[in-house]
Amino acid sequence: MTFFNRRNFLAGAMFLGAGLLAGCHRASVSPSAASVIKIGSLNSMTGDESTFGKSCNSGIRLAAEQQNARGGLLGKKIRIITADSESSPSKAQLAVLSLIDNHHVVAVLGDVASSNTKAAVPRCQKARIPLITPASTNPNILRGDDYCFRTCFTDTTQGKWIARFARHDLHATRAALLVDTKQAYSTGLARVIRAEFTRLGGKILLAPSYQSGDTNFQTQLTQIKAAHPQVVFLPGYYGDVTTILQQARELKITVPFVGGDGWDSQKTLQIGGKAVDGCYFTNHYDPSDPAPRVQKFVKAYEARYHGNVPDAMAVLGYDAANLLFNAIKRAHGTGEPALRNAIATTKNFPGVTGNITINKHRNAIKPGVVIKIEHDKFVVVKHEKP
Ligand code: PHE
Repeated sequence: MTFFNRRNFLAGAMFLGAGLLAGCHRASVSPSAASVIKIGSLNSMTGDESTFGKSCNSGIRLAAEQQNARGGLLGKKIRIITADSESSPSKAQLAVLSLIDNHHVVAVLGDVASSNTKAAVPRCQKARIPLITPASTNPNILRGDDYCFRTCFTDTTQGKWIARFARHDLHATRAALLVDTKQAYSTGLARVIRAEFTRLGGKILLAPSYQSGDTNFQTQLTQIKAAHPQVVFLPGYYGDVTTILQQARELKITVPFVGGDGWDSQKTLQIGGKAVDGCYFTNHYDPSDPAPRVQKFVKAYEARYHGNVPDAMAVLGYDAANLLFNAIKRAHGTGEPALRNAIATTKNFPGVTGNITINKHRNAIKPGVVIKIEHDKFVVVKHEKP
């Protein structure tokens, strides 16, 4: 019987050693560690969705800087630690582990893209580190994980707005649907759009698919052209959206395309140019809204980031960070489950994007807007209620 074999013994010794080392390390850094609250920003700073990650991270950082200028939180300064999820779910998983294991963050803000958040959620749940996604709209990514929250609307709501807008405002009855099967965001949103458009008496004539990063859409677009839809639903991300629209216009498909928040990037205008003119998408807020809380934020963001107008990810990152700070105050600390419970019981928190109440599904119910792309600008044409 090898009750205590060599391998087990060695493994045990190494484990103990690692524990001691970790202990020493913590003890040696404790004075500075005690004076800061570390919060993770899990965002795609590089890759196909990098405008999402950069904007969200900028919003989070602005919120932390403002809070630190007011004296910080509970007598400590906030330190934001950014981990790059590189526009990839597997990288998002590694990035969130480094935030938890190497940086010992007390909470994670992120990701933007639903597939990345979906990959990070089980890690945070297992470690009992609260995660708040500011912007991931897929309804299924939070599962039963009670440490994971969302502070934006879901695609169950957004998909209905998209379908209703096409049916009631554009008076379309015949539509095509183009789906990105690589993104949970796109497949989920497509499902809701199809159900709602059909319920309202519209018909989805065909629903060809693509995968983010594809460059040639001739096959799908030729099929779409032959079916003569009055509108094309495109629940995708800005990088593919602009390529698809350029190829569609070359094929003389002139009808409007309608999408969701995944279109929100300055790149849609810069790269899409004329091809995206006359198209529509739903989004989280209107930066030209005269409401004081919106204008105050827009001015502060522009001053901090060289005149850049904050897009939806920027404001959502800002709101999620402030909501977390508020929860830390109400929890009188960052211990668990107190912090998790404080986030869960958030009621009527005054965000820039609206008042945020976390419901029993750990989601927020929020209003939205429909945007038209007109002469290289995003113009709000409709306000939507949940
Ligand atoms: N809602 C998108 C998703 O779930 C991400 C996104 C949010 C994109 C806001 C743009 C603006 O993947």
